[in-house]
Amino acid sequence: MRVVSGIQPTGNLHLGNYLGAIRNWVKMQDEMEEGSECLFFLADLHAISMPHEPAELAANTLEMTAALVACGIDPDRSILFNQAQVPAHSELQWLLMGTARMGWLNRMTQWKDKAGKNREGQSVALFSYPVLQAADVLLYQATHVPVGEDQKQHLELARDIAQKFNNDFASEEAPVFTLPEPFIPPEAARIMSLRDGSAKMSKSDPSEMSRINLADDADTIMKKIKKAKTDPEPLPSEAKGLEDRAEALNLVSIFGAITGRSVDDVLGEFGGEGFGKFKPALGEALVETLAPISQRFRELKEDRESLDAILARGAAKARELGTPTLDAAYRALGLVRG
Ligand code: TYM
Repeated sequence: MRVVSGIQPTGNLHLGNYLGAIRNWVKMQDEMEEGSECLFFLADLHAISMPHEPAELAANTLEMTAALVACGIDPDRSILFNQAQVPAHSELQWLLMGTARMGWLNRMTQWKDKAGKNREGQSVALFSYPVLQAADVLLYQATHVPVGEDQKQHLELARDIAQKFNNDFASEEAPVFTLPEPFIPPEAARIMSLRDGSAKMSKSDPSEMSRINLADDADTIMKKIKKAKTDPEPLPSEAKGLEDRAEALNLVSIFGAITGRSVDDVLGEFGGEGFGKFKPALGEALVETLAPISQRFRELKEDRESLDAILARGAAKARELGTPTLDAAYRALGLVRG
């Protein structure tokens, strides 16, 4: 088993990243068997596909490293690094560019959402972003890629690219790439904004009240939950009753995810109650889970030397692991390298 996943170092780690992806990374790391490997990386190369401040990107890369370690990623057991220190990611992206089709990329919902009506004005990097993502996982022969629901389409594209490359340039007996499986935790695949139950919780939402950040203190968490959008109805006693109540469903799902309970189980306890009773319980559960993480995060992020060392060590291992596949891709394409 080879587990590979990444996160963009743009701003704070939020509850959607944690419940949708990172918590699952930690679980996979902790349950890893001998001979298997986990690689987790900061997708700093992806972050330059949108307008950005260079100094902020550098600071965010280190902060996000601290956040991942605070969440339980152990640099002694997992390979933790940033893309920019492993040039093979960019190299393989270019090698895959001849295989990826314009039509495939045009269908990506993230591209459509981020470009909006102004496609002509977007960077080429934003359009070809999913090809770099394919390179990220194919470089290491990833078998499992733990992500939130929103990244599923990009991983299906990675499979299509791998399949076409293998068909066009390799034999069936000796394919160059393994087809990766997206792995989406069922209980928390999509955490929504606290202000709008139809939009995902996101770093790019201008409203701080829309998300819980892992670095938020207890008061801030309680305040954000208290102000979270809801409706005037009491909670139903079964999940069916939440079908047209996106905001209520989101809060109950978060409670379930954080306490390891199903939505029905949570509603068994809170059915018939109003949000005046439910919200404080949710806020407290969040504070309990997040307090130790944010405490550790605050300590780690001051230790620049350790963070640099973690990334350098991870990158050295990643470079070594990626070399055979990168070489095989160059060879398969007929590129002469002496
Ligand atoms: P990113 O940085 O937006 O998010 C990191 C991870 O968090 C998940 N996530 C969510 N899950 C549930 N609810 C939400 N509201 C929510 N918001 C974010 C994402 O699904 C993701 O798993 N393109 C990727 C980074 C990337 C990558 C890769 C991932 C680059 N290369 C290779 C996997 C494999 C991204 O921007 O994720």
